[in-house]
Amino acid sequence: MIRGIVVSETGVELKELDEAFLGDGDVVVDVVYSDLNYKDALAVTGKPGVVRTLPLVAGIDLVGRVVESGDPRWQAGDWIVQNGAGLSETKNGGFATRARLDAKLAVGVPDGLSPESVAALGTAGYTAALSVLRIVSEGVLPSDGPVLVTGATGGVGSIATMLLATAGFDVHASTGRVDRFGDYLQSLGATEVVPRSDLEGRGKPLQKAQYAGVVDSVGGEVLANAIARTLPNGTVTACGLAGSIALPSTVMPFILRGVTLAGIDSVWAPLEDRADAWRLLAKGIDVDQLDLMTSRVTLDEVIAAGQQLLDGERHGRTLVTIGGD
Ligand SMILES: NC(=O)c1ccc[n+]([C@@H]2O[C@H](COP(=O)([O-])OP(=O)(O)OC[C@H]3O[C@@H](n4cnc5c(N)ncnc54)[C@H](OP(=O)(O)O)[C@@H]3O)[C@@H](O)[C@H]2O)c1
Repeated sequence: MIRGIVVSETGVELKELDEAFLGDGDVVVDVVYSDLNYKDALAVTGKPGVVRTLPLVAGIDLVGRVVESGDPRWQAGDWIVQNGAGLSETKNGGFATRARLDAKLAVGVPDGLSPESVAALGTAGYTAALSVLRIVSEGVLPSDGPVLVTGATGGVGSIATMLLATAGFDVHASTGRVDRFGDYLQSLGATEVVPRSDLEGRGKPLQKAQYAGVVDSVGGEVLANAIARTLPNGTVTACGLAGSIALPSTVMPFILRGVTLAGIDSVWAPLEDRADAWRLLAKGIDVDQLDLMTSRVTLDEVIAAGQQLLDGERHGRTLVTIGGD
């Protein structure tokens, strides 16, 4: 029996599915783990914008065992990791006990991480890694100045904080929940905790330059003010819209300070970038710390957990245990 969380025109429910529902793809996977990202929270609570083909199994990530494969890269019994690549947008996703995939953008579980840790990191962790890799590839060094992480208690923010601190950067973590999570952010390696309110409001186009880099997952005024505080030749990565889709900025930081604004798209990132990101995670993540920041839910609990995530009642990462291995 296949069970999955299906988003349809009439709502979202956990139901039994037949094999035919799984659709096209040459790799069949028994899903063992998935995880809850901001996009998943939107999808399982029935918000528009993520799922574009109805009905569809939600879940932008999956980690599981290959059952059968027509793709020479994959053999029965292999562990396989699929992040994005249309899952939960136009293809059935990871919140089901079984999936049928086009696995060209899938990767294996990297050396140094367990399948469970890979799922705990999920798209949030892999996107944090893509962001950090981009900042480094733009030439930003730890000696250039602090790196600001916004939405720092969230999935992307928490993992970015950890990766940057491990790489030797001085991390300033911005959060709307300083009282509750200031200590948590310091335990991840942040040297300063910045109240989100410091970055809110319509600021001047150029402000006191202080950050060599920024990992932003929030958007809106927070991103605009972060750009306005970036040091000459610094790099700001933008991956998210947890606060807003707007960008009320000006060209001034780009033309007077040479600031780079780099967009991060994890969904269709090429295979080489995925492999690089997972290698960085395998090297830069303290799995004990990851474990401490990870809460666990079952498939039956995902919809309620999604609502909690949108209500600001969760932090760090949420692992979804789906099938037995
Ligand atoms: N481009 C991509 O490929 C990609 C990949 C992954 C994620 N994303 C996007 O990145 C964003 C974060 O994802 P996530 O999985 O890390 O989500 P998450 O775990 O829910 O974290 C989002 C964080 O943003 C902050 N936040 C929430 N509401 C806010 C508001 N109204 N104004 C300002 N800050 C707010 C909160 O941090 P504090 O309480 O600490 O302030 C929250 O923990 C989402 O928009 C997601 O869709 C994009």
